[in-house]
Amino acid sequence: MGSFMYNFSFQNPTKLIFGEGQMAKLASEIPKDKKVLLIYGGGSIKKNGVYEQVASALSEHQWGEFGGIEANPGFHTAMKAVEKIKAEGFDFLLAVGGGSVCDATKFIAASACFNDDPWKILTEGARIRDALPIGVVLTLPATGSESNPNGVIDNYETQEKLAFYGRKLFPQFAILDPTTTYSLPAKQVANGIVDAYVHTMEQYLTFPVGADLQDRFAEGILRTLANNGPKALSEPENYTVRANVMWSATMALNGLIGLAVPHDWATHFIGHELTALHNMDHGQTLAVILPSMMAEKREQKHEKLLQYGKEVWGIDSGSEEERIDAAIEQTRAFFESLGVKTRLSDYGVEEQHIPALVEALEKHKMVALGEHRDVTPEVSAQVLRRCL
Ligand code: NZQ
Ligand code: ZN
Repeated sequence: MGSFMYNFSFQNPTKLIFGEGQMAKLASEIPKDKKVLLIYGGGSIKKNGVYEQVASALSEHQWGEFGGIEANPGFHTAMKAVEKIKAEGFDFLLAVGGGSVCDATKFIAASACFNDDPWKILTEGARIRDALPIGVVLTLPATGSESNPNGVIDNYETQEKLAFYGRKLFPQFAILDPTTTYSLPAKQVANGIVDAYVHTMEQYLTFPVGADLQDRFAEGILRTLANNGPKALSEPENYTVRANVMWSATMALNGLIGLAVPHDWATHFIGHELTALHNMDHGQTLAVILPSMMAEKREQKHEKLLQYGKEVWGIDSGSEEERIDAAIEQTRAFFESLGVKTRLSDYGVEEQHIPALVEALEKHKMVALGEHRDVTPEVSAQVLRRCL
């Protein structure tokens, strides 16, 4: 534990094109000689006008489409897209949708250029040396996938949810038009806000290393989400609110705020097992686990918990332990205020399910999580019991 900022190098190559009416820029961002495959999900883009906007922007391109990417994108569906790409010769992938479509597109882009079984990218961390170029039209602010090199793929046959990474997977550009988010169901708005909030927390709520600017970035995102989150639900067509949520979610996980500081992804990795085994939404898993993780790790995270309570929620009276209790309770109350339940029992997950969840963590080598690598399977089990 030191109080020095960690060394870093930073390069995020994704061009962000933000604001209402930016969809037309697609035409000039994708070279005209590319054969474009538009990849999308279950069809929301065909109901909210986004598909028409994209089609009209691509009127001078040669393009085709592949739909049906699941929320929590499936490995086998991605493989079908790879077959289509190989058969028809697409050489640019355009993801139009939320994090699931972005992640699937990254996996498809890598798999199309991979000479071995792509499953090894997920299970053996096989190196991604090449990938097709990717562009994104984002319709759900949450994951940050639109400008990071990460993804998560689900295998519905083996009931696993596995992460992958590759520098070649940064999208070349991402179009962020907040008006595309007006049509989101309340549940997805709330899930997205929780996801962005927890991404920020896991790069902030660790131990101090003297990274003042990094802390202010993180607190700025947390405060922006806390102020705008409930309004995104009550005033769905408030452009300013939607714009602030969208920009916050991108900045929460595009590399910038995570520079120079320790990270703690334990909540995310435990959450992935809840999605894989109990089909919970990604945001729901995080809303359940984070408050319990904060409570379990209150000693190790003592200083940052006090700072978080004061800077984000204005908690500055009472004993230190009382302030930490209040910070944890405020976090839980925030998630609940968005309509996201914070107990496993709310989702039908019970004590008897914990051993299988912990076994899955062990199978996936998630046995030394957190900023101190001390979230062992026993600690994960303890956190899950706190979540009941
Ligand atoms: O499939 P369609 O019909 O498009 O509907 C989607 C889906 O049902 C709908 N939706 C999206 N935009 C909409 C809309 N409905 C109406 N109007 C719109 N504008 O929302 C539903 C959920 O979409 P999904 O893409 O699954 O949500 P999200 O963006 O939250 O992505 C979740 C996935 O991202 C992964 C998660 O694990 C999960 O698989 N993550 C990816 C990360 C990354 N790449 O860096 C980090 C995250 O921590 C996360 O793990
Ligand atoms: Zn997440």
